[in-house]
Amino acid sequence: MQNNTRPEDMLRITTKELADKFIAEQVEEVRAQVGDKKVLLALSGGVDSSVVAALLIKAIGKQLVCVHVNHGLMRKDESENVVKVFSDELDANLIYADETDRFLNLLAGVSDPEKKRKIIGAEFINVFADEARKLEGISFLAQGTIYPDILESVKQAEGKKAVKSHHNVGGLPEDLQFELVEPLKLLYKDEVRVVGEALGLPHAMVYRQPFPGPGLGVRCLGAITRDRLHALREADAILREEFDICGLAEKVWQYFVVVPDIKSVGVKDESRYEGWPAIIRAVNTKDAMSATIEEIPYAVLHKITNRITNEVEGINRVLLDLTPKPVGTIEWE
Ligand code: XMP
Repeated sequence: MQNNTRPEDMLRITTKELADKFIAEQVEEVRAQVGDKKVLLALSGGVDSSVVAALLIKAIGKQLVCVHVNHGLMRKDESENVVKVFSDELDANLIYADETDRFLNLLAGVSDPEKKRKIIGAEFINVFADEARKLEGISFLAQGTIYPDILESVKQAEGKKAVKSHHNVGGLPEDLQFELVEPLKLLYKDEVRVVGEALGLPHAMVYRQPFPGPGLGVRCLGAITRDRLHALREADAILREEFDICGLAEKVWQYFVVVPDIKSVGVKDESRYEGWPAIIRAVNTKDAMSATIEEIPYAVLHKITNRITNEVEGINRVLLDLTPKPVGTIEWE
């Protein structure tokens, strides 16, 4: 059993040299732990699971089996990018499960945020477990657990109350109990990024803004419909593109679009045009427990508004959310 407490004298990994040393140590440790057995990993495309994947590919190559579940609530091009980086560039053993229909059918008509989260979380485990059962000879489960996750679970064990139920790949069915491989569990997020870059992952993947497990599901407010989800995805892609162009992407912790289930009256081509509003949210925070609002220059806001209302079918207004946390949570659901 590995230790779950970070030694007080452990050096913070801030340079490529320190990252290379950490990687070399972990490669040896993982090889010793795993031997010639196979390891399974749920690869979401987030920073932590991507860095674990790259590290394990280096250590054990095709003994690592990655499963990427597309729940249909990913951002634009995100799943495609996971396939491109891991399958095409790193030659990983990757199973791509596109289960968009399965998730969206289950979510149809469900408007309660916590019910939506539970459905997405439970179905995610079902899909992953189905894929795992199809595989033979898996002995280990790799996870992108990092040190703040360990500290958080200690806090929860002490009885602190959570505001929202966050999901990750835990709670696999009884018949699928594997030994864990968690090479990042003593690292803080900034160290994980340094290690990711040292492993050669793309900068955009390593510095990807946090993205919730239920994905766009908690930003397509209320009962999700395919047309509104599509509008949200396209509007969000425009916001991200414009933040990249003006440099805000490097400065802002989390930025995204929310599309509520309301329509207002607008006018387009001299006709009445009913559409949804796209709400822009851009926040800065250290630990996600509280957050402040990033100031976005008006010129950038005008450009984003023009692009979204002209390019995205179904959106006829753009609004800006100025609410810090507290009192608003970062996500709307
Ligand atoms: P809130 O909305 O609680 O969000 O202020 C704090 C941070 O957590 C993310 N978040 C989630 N992450 N599953 C996740 O993995 C979830 O259900 C979930 N809900 C919120 C949110 O994006 C923000 O970074």
